Amino acid sequence: MANNIKYFIGNWKMFGVPKSISILDKINKFIKSDKKFNKKYKIVVTPPHTLLQSYSKFFLKKIISIGAQNCYHKDNYGANTGAISPLMIKSVGAQYIIVGHSDNRSEGDTDAMLKSKVENSLNNKLKVVFCIGENKEHKLNNKTFEVLENQIKNVLEEKFNFNNIIIAYEPIWSIGTGQIPEADDLLKTTIFIKKILKNIFKKKYLPVVLYGGSVDGKNIKRFKKLNEIDGFLIGGASKSDKNFIDIIKNYYR
Ligand code: 13P
Repeated sequence: MANNIKYFIGNWKMFGVPKSISILDKINKFIKSDKKFNKKYKIVVTPPHTLLQSYSKFFLKKIISIGAQNCYHKDNYGANTGAISPLMIKSVGAQYIIVGHSDNRSEGDTDAMLKSKVENSLNNKLKVVFCIGENKEHKLNNKTFEVLENQIKNVLEEKFNFNNIIIAYEPIWSIGTGQIPEADDLLKTTIFIKKILKNIFKKKYLPVVLYGGSVDGKNIKRFKKLNEIDGFLIGGASKSDKNFIDIIKNYYR
């Protein structure tokens, strides 16, 4: 089963200074002026922490929602130099948070840390975009499903408010490489992920599963037929208003 809302989430990673807000302003204006765009689409952008407060304030009553890209695994305040907690992120107006991106997993995020990040973010009423994905070696050895199942089961628990959790399936081999999965494989994987989620959350909610990895204005047309996919987590192409608008436009028009 697919959801009614389709998400387009732009992950800026280490990009953006205050004036980059003009990129988002153009996207927001485009969406506002386009009669075909409707409430079935949700646009979220995750700038770096340095821009969360000003961007959240600017987009408070606009179409685009703002989220953070990561957080520290402990909440509240602490003697942790350079760390930013979910409480601090929420306090500046962010509504979403990405947890478990492969960039952060490769820098040392463990499942235990990710569980704590998810739980603390949910406790602070942030919507969590939880990333999972296999690497090239897993794929070549037919380990994709096993890896994804472990990534999900080691972090998500039935007691979590699944209404506020979005899964982003991002195969590591497709991030920034221009390679995307075959439609058939992607469909099977998405259905598999939803099955695992339904088992954990006892079918109370309809899982929201996004795809991420080299999505652009051209290949987005190939994803249109895959109704099981509830949206996209977009890296490189989200840093340009033209590219981001092309993706949105070519998907729903
Ligand atoms: P690209 O769209 O640049 O491949 O990045 C995907 C990603 O990592 C989004 O989180």
